[in-house]
Amino acid sequence: MKVLVTGGCGFIGSHFIRTIFAERPDWEVVNLDALTYAGNLANTLDIQTHPRYRFVYGSITNKDLVMKLVSEVDAVVNFAAETHVDRSIQDNEPFILTNVLGVQRLIDACVKHDKRFHHVSTDEVFGSLAPEDPKFHEGTPYDPKNPYSATKAASDYLVKAAIHTHGMYGTISNCTNNYGPYLYPEKFLSISITNLMDGKPIYIHGDGRQIRDWIHVRDHALGILAVLEKGKHGHTYMMGGDSEFSIAETARTLVRVMGLNDNMIVFISDRPGQDRRYAIDFTKIQNDLGWAPSLDFEQGLSQMVAWYRKNEDWWRPIKESSGYRRWFKQQFGSVE
Ligand SMILES: NC(=O)c1ccc[n+]([C@@H]2O[C@H](COP(=O)([O-])OP(=O)(O)OC[C@H]3O[C@@H](n4cnc5c(N)ncnc54)[C@H](O)[C@@H]3O)[C@@H](O)[C@H]2O)c1
Repeated sequence: MKVLVTGGCGFIGSHFIRTIFAERPDWEVVNLDALTYAGNLANTLDIQTHPRYRFVYGSITNKDLVMKLVSEVDAVVNFAAETHVDRSIQDNEPFILTNVLGVQRLIDACVKHDKRFHHVSTDEVFGSLAPEDPKFHEGTPYDPKNPYSATKAASDYLVKAAIHTHGMYGTISNCTNNYGPYLYPEKFLSISITNLMDGKPIYIHGDGRQIRDWIHVRDHALGILAVLEKGKHGHTYMMGGDSEFSIAETARTLVRVMGLNDNMIVFISDRPGQDRRYAIDFTKIQNDLGWAPSLDFEQGLSQMVAWYRKNEDWWRPIKESSGYRRWFKQQFGSVE
C-alpha cells in the first residue's frame, strides 16, 4: 500500500505517518506539505530517513503536482488545511484556497485516477451544542459558525458530491479537539503548557465555560487508519475522546498535573466565533470498525506535559519567532 498523506508536517498528519510506520511497516508514505506557519519539518524529524518515506514540498492547490502524485499512489489521506479559527476571522483567503479549492484538486485527481480518498474533517462543521443537547453524530445537520468551520463544511460537501456524482471511493471522518505532542503553540493546551513552564499564567477567553471533548492525537490517528482500511464506501465516521470538560476545568486539571495552583489561571475578554460546546457520539465507528479512544484525559495530558518538558528545542524557537509574537499580541493584547 502506498499512501499520499497531505499536510503530513502538521500536528495530526505527522502522528498519522508515525502510526502507519508503527502499525503497517511495509506501507509507503508520500507526504505533500506546503510548510505553512503550522507545517514544521521538525514534526517529522524521526521519520525523515525512513526507507518508505518521501517528502514533497508543495501545495494541494497545485493541480499538476497533485495529479501526478495521486496517480502514483493507492490512496490519499487529506490533513492539509488551514486550521485555526482566530486566523480565519482575521484573513479567510488561505482558508478558501486550501480548504476548498485544494480539496477539490485532490478529489479531481482521485476521480481521474480512480483512487481511494479519505478526508479528515472536524466536529466544528456541526456548530455548537447547548449543555443538554445530545452529542454530535453522523446524522447531525451541518451548521458551521466561523470561516474555518464553513470552509471545512464546504470541503466535506465536495467530497460527498464526488462520491455521489462520480462514485469516488471516499470516506470522511469528523473528530473533536486533539491534544498531544507537537501541538502548535497557538492552541489552548500547548500555549498553556509552555506558558506555565515559563512561569507565566494560563489565559482563558470569556468565562471558560466552553466545553470541549478532548481526544489524544494517537487515538485519532488509529481511528483514521481503521477508516482507511475498513471504512465503507461513502460513509462518514465520527471520533471523540469521551472526555468532555469545560476550558476552566481543563485549565485546573493542567495546573494540577504540572504541580501548580489555580492562581496561575487568568480570565480575559471573550473573542468572536467561539462555539459553546462540542462533543461526539462515536457509537458507529465503535460498532462497525471496533475503534474507541483508549487514553484517559489526565493520563494523556501528563504525557503531553512530559513531552513539552523534554522537547523545549521544538517549541521554544516557534514561540520566540517574530511571526508568532506578532500573532500572540493580536490574540492576547499586552499579556505575555
Ligand atoms: N487539531 C484538531 O484538534 C483537529 C480536530 C479535528 C479535525 N482536524 C482536522 O485535521 C486536519 C489536520 O489538522 P492539524 O491540527 O494537524 O493541522 P495543522 O495546522 O497542525 O497542520 C496542517 C498542515 O497542512 C499543511 N498545509 C496547509 N496548507 C496546505 C496546502 N495548501 N498544501 C499542502 N499542505 C498544506 C501545513 O503546512 C501543515 O503541515 C485538518 O484538516 C483539521 O481540520 C483537526
